[in-house]
Order: sequence, then C-alpha cells, then structure tokens
Amino acid sequence: MIENNLDIIKSEIFQLVKQYYNLYKQKDVFIPGESWVTFGGRVYDENEIIAAIDASLEFWLTEGRFSREFRELFGKYLGVRHVHLVNSGSSANLVCFSALTSPKLSDRRLLPGDEVISVASAFPTTVNPIIQNGMVPVFVDMDIGTYNANAEQLKAAITSNTKAIFLAHTLGNALPLDIIMDLVSKHNLWFIEDSCDALGSSYNGKMLGTFGHAAAFSFYPPHHMTMGEGGAVVTNNDELAPLLNSFRNWGRDCWCEPGKDNTCGKRFSIKMGDLPLGYDHKHIFSHIGYNLKPTDIQAAIGVEQIKKLPGFVKARKQNFTKIYEGLKKHEDIFILPEAYPGADVSWFGFLLTVREDAGFERIDIVKFLEAHKVRTRMLFAGNLLKHPGYKDIRYRQVSDLKNTNIIMERTFWIGVYPGLTDSMIDYMLSLFDKFRASK
Ligand SMILES: Cc1ncc(COP(=O)(O)O)c(C=O)c1O
Repeated sequence: MIENNLDIIKSEIFQLVKQYYNLYKQKDVFIPGESWVTFGGRVYDENEIIAAIDASLEFWLTEGRFSREFRELFGKYLGVRHVHLVNSGSSANLVCFSALTSPKLSDRRLLPGDEVISVASAFPTTVNPIIQNGMVPVFVDMDIGTYNANAEQLKAAITSNTKAIFLAHTLGNALPLDIIMDLVSKHNLWFIEDSCDALGSSYNGKMLGTFGHAAAFSFYPPHHMTMGEGGAVVTNNDELAPLLNSFRNWGRDCWCEPGKDNTCGKRFSIKMGDLPLGYDHKHIFSHIGYNLKPTDIQAAIGVEQIKKLPGFVKARKQNFTKIYEGLKKHEDIFILPEAYPGADVSWFGFLLTVREDAGFERIDIVKFLEAHKVRTRMLFAGNLLKHPGYKDIRYRQVSDLKNTNIIMERTFWIGVYPGLTDSMIDYMLSLFDKFRASK
C-alpha cells in the first residue's frame, strides 16, 4: 500500500518535472550576436532532472544503486573491467597517480625523486599529482597541429630515473600511442592516460583510456558527458584496481560500498601492520588516502547522460567537420587541427593557432569573437612553467619548449559541443570571414 502510494506520488512529480522542463527549454532561443555561442556545456533533457530527483527522493546520497549502474554502463562503453567514481577529473588524475606510490607495488612503486614524463602545455591537474607526490616532471615539447607530445622528445626524455609517462589526449586527439606503448614496454614504465577530454575517441579501433595502466575521465559540464562535477578512474589491471579504490576512499584497505559490511568475509579476522589481530577491516588504512567520492545523485545524472553519449560523440565529430570545412579557406592565417594518424577523434574543441605571419595577434581574433558573443578558450595553461604557482617546482625540460611557447602565445579554441546548432556554427564561421575582411 505504502509502496503503491509512493509510486503514484513519484510519477506525479516526474510528470510535473517534464512539464517544467518543456516550458523552461522554450527560453532557449538563439539570436546571433545577442546569445552566447559557448565552447561547451550541459546537454540534457527532462530525464537527467528526473534521475537527479529520483536519487534525491531515495536520499541514499553516497554511492548506491545509481553509482553501481553507472559503473557498469561506463565499463561496457569503454571495454574495461574496473571503474571507480570520483568527484572530478582532477581527482581521477590524483587517484591514478597516487596509486602508483602504493607500497603494495613493491619495487615498482613510484618514489620521491623519480622522473615522470609530461608536457607543460597542460591542464594543471594533469601535472599537479606528479609534483604533489614528490616526483619530478620532465617536460617535452608539443607538435603544433596535433598538439601532441613530440615523439622524438619522448624518446630522448627517458633516463634510468624515468618511471612513468603521464599525459593527456589533447582536446580528444589520440596521443602518439604507437611510440608511447613501445617506450612503456621497452623501459617498463607506468603509463597514465588523462582521458578527461577524450571520451569516445579511439585509436586503431580501441577506446582511449584503455591503453594505459589506468585512465582518468572528467564529467565537468563542458566535457563529453556530465554529472555537474564528477569523474572516473578506469583500469583493466586487477592489481591496480583496489589501490585506485583505496586512494579515493580515505586510504582504506576495505572495499565495502557505503552501507555494506564484511564484503571481504574477514572483517574481524585480519592482521595488518602492527594492529591487533581482528582489528575491524573497515578501519584499516593501507594508504595515506583522500576522500574523493561522488554522490549517488551525480551518478544518477550520469546514467542518463551515458545513454546519450554515442549521439554526443557523433555530434562533436559532425560539428568539427563543419567548422573545419568552413575555416579551411583561412588556412593561410590559422594552423588547423589534425587528428593523429590512426585516431578517430571525439573532439573536445576546435584548436586554432594564429600563424606567425598572419598580420594580427591571437588577442585580436579572440577579442573580436568574444565581443561578438562567441566564447573562446586557451589551450589550458599554455605553458605551466610561466605561471606563478609553478615558479619554484623541481622539474627537467628536454628542449627549449619552443612550440609550447607558441601555443601559449598563439593558440586558442572554440567549441564543437553537441549543444551547437547549425545556425550557431554558421554564425561563428561568418565572424571569421568578417574579422578577415576587417584586416
Ligand atoms: C585534460 C584535462 N585533465 C583534467 C581536467 C580536470 O577535470 P575536472 O574539471 O573535472 O577536475 C580537465 C578539465 O577540464 C582537463 O581538460
């Protein structure tokens, strides 16, 4: 009886949400020059709102049935065995990297002073875990066009101190995985893929995020799908999986889900460290960890978003192609983006580098676009080494990072996200023509 009444109330609530959403979305009318054309954002319908309300009515709050469902769907989508949810892509990177410091990895564990290959033209939280854990980032330069770590410099960066490669697939493009995977096996290195911007991209038919020992994903709104805030750590490595889980879960040795006890079946019969025999496994900490877990409300949104993911990926690819075709005539003033050979890219954005002899500076075109209500973004930090926060870090660089500095000075990107309509893209393209005519 109670169940029945609850179901009736729930369905009335959901019906009202649907009505609300349908009315709310009518406000979304695009007026060129008046409405913003943004670089990314949430694309959703009433189902995400209903899912969030469903999870709220249930009020479990911490990881529960929606988290379990999302982990399964995400694992299937990528073809990975282990998925752990976290509260951001930055947390996912931190968890992936920190897991490599686990004493459980014996002589393969990363230690302070070990070198880790990365790039300085990065999102900060790809490099931060290296520094925060006391390792030394070794910066290689980028190739302009693919915006990938340069293959020759990746090879040259390796010394007997090199223990890992930790790189992002820039704006969805595949890293030079042929070279990287060779180096990883030849030198017995760890490889972490920051795939935060690359959900749905693949290389030689295999999803990005499944090449490294572990990979990070972000579900912040401009990303390929969203939970508001959120992220995931994935791996096919059975040894790493519990370590990843532990670091996001206070450093616990226990892997019970919230509200569950004695999953391991030896809750009061285990002896670890110098603790007395039978000390509650729920409170045994095998790592100096963090709490980076998300809520079930976020996961409920994710469950609806992942159903839309194939459509999102398709739209990103189509929008990229349309913009590429529209900007091809301006190739003499902009370097256009290039997919890495073998990559099928689910682009995060459309990267442009102003050519040296273009006759204008990046700031001119960026200000022009923004003044006409088109949002632009830099390639994240440009060059992290030029930022105040990184002034005193210990690092090594493999070259003069010439292209990294070019990216810092002349590169920017515009959106390709599924929320863009044809009229928004046409408007954006017309602005490039208008800008050119004004020069
Ligand atoms: C490559 C890359 N790594 C990590 C992150 C961090 O993700 P989050 O914003 O979810 O912390 C981002 C954010 O956009 C990113 O682009």
